[in-house]
Amino acid sequence: MERAARMALRGHGQAEPNPMVGCVILDSSGNFVAEGYHHRCGGAHAEVDALRHAGARARNGTAIVTLEPCNHHGRTGPCSQALLNAGVARVAYGCCDPNPKAAGGGDMLRAAGVDAFHLPCAAAERVTAPFLYRVRTGLPWVIAKWAQSADGRIATKPGEPRWISGPESRAMVHRERGRVDAILTGMGTVLTDDPLLTVREARASRTPVRVVWDPRLSIGVDRALVRTARETPTVVACTPEALAARSVHANTLREYGVELRAVDGLRALLASLRTQCATLPAGDRTGASTVLVEAGAGLVRSLHAEGLINDVWVFTAPHTIGDAGPRSMAPMSAAALAGLPCVWHGTRGVDAVEVRRVGG
Ligand SMILES: NC(=O)c1ccc[n+]([C@@H]2O[C@H](COP(=O)([O-])OP(=O)(O)OC[C@H]3O[C@@H](n4cnc5c(N)ncnc54)[C@H](OP(=O)(O)O)[C@@H]3O)[C@@H](O)[C@H]2O)c1
Repeated sequence: MERAARMALRGHGQAEPNPMVGCVILDSSGNFVAEGYHHRCGGAHAEVDALRHAGARARNGTAIVTLEPCNHHGRTGPCSQALLNAGVARVAYGCCDPNPKAAGGGDMLRAAGVDAFHLPCAAAERVTAPFLYRVRTGLPWVIAKWAQSADGRIATKPGEPRWISGPESRAMVHRERGRVDAILTGMGTVLTDDPLLTVREARASRTPVRVVWDPRLSIGVDRALVRTARETPTVVACTPEALAARSVHANTLREYGVELRAVDGLRALLASLRTQCATLPAGDRTGASTVLVEAGAGLVRSLHAEGLINDVWVFTAPHTIGDAGPRSMAPMSAAALAGLPCVWHGTRGVDAVEVRRVGG
């Protein structure tokens, strides 16, 4: 099941808004035969992909799949039927499907005489969590990313180079930018760093919309995000009161190509992105599935306080920075981070990288 979960992750960036799903096929003696995953929304499901590779060797074998096989005719046929047609004798699934339209694959297989059962597995639950969360809450899955020094600082002193993490870490962030639907930042970052928040030096499955949470609608037209809004979609979100009070400035921003959204807070902003997100490819996708937060501690802490962050990606450089001002402390302390379940950890160049699950 863990191997199937690793396969599922390969679909990140293309499978959404569908779940990421992976599948491993064993032959009748329990030997590995083939594996597959859901490559992209609208394409073959993981079971069909794996069965295609397995061919006749799947007969009387076992399918291990991270999510209960679907039982409905969507853009592709039901996976439960595909498993039956392949003559699979046993199906183990890591998560039950909560989607009433798709669920029932387990029951259908059991009724047809297949030994189908739920095999709970943490790795399968982790990889399915973003989909389950979206179905349950109507909100996008939110990843907060930051780079910090060994002494927990996310900003450098004036006059010092801005980058804290190394090029390998930044490349990882750019790859992730190319897999999400929106990148959210705050006004403190816009004022200090004037970021572009585009996907550079990485292959992009998606073009994320850039979103600024600017409750008072104070963003200037000199900011890079505004100046490039005609090339890369940009949303500035503020309160309804600010939009009414600053209607002239709002019209100027619109002339620059900025989309304005009036929302009553961060939860409403995320819900609105889930409903409507300009950059998604044509088709039946309507809103953002995944949002990457690249902001300072102010916005990250506000999101966390409202329970709106699902994963954190923390890049820790080996050097220290020292006191660089009140806005330079990382959003979470080392002790707080250590208390969160670790999804993945590794290194990128000289940086330590950890992905931790906050909630889902
Ligand atoms: N290392 C990293 O990965 C990373 C990533 C992004 C940013 N940063 C650093 O984080 C620092 C910024 O942190 P932050 O917490 O201030 O920013 P933020 O989280 O990006 O933005 C949120 C806050 O910006 C504040 N803000 C500050 N000046 C404002 C103004 N003139 N108008 C409107 N809002 C304003 C607001 O604070 P109030 O609620 O007080 O109004 C708002 O809550 C910068 O030094 C930046 O370099 C580091």
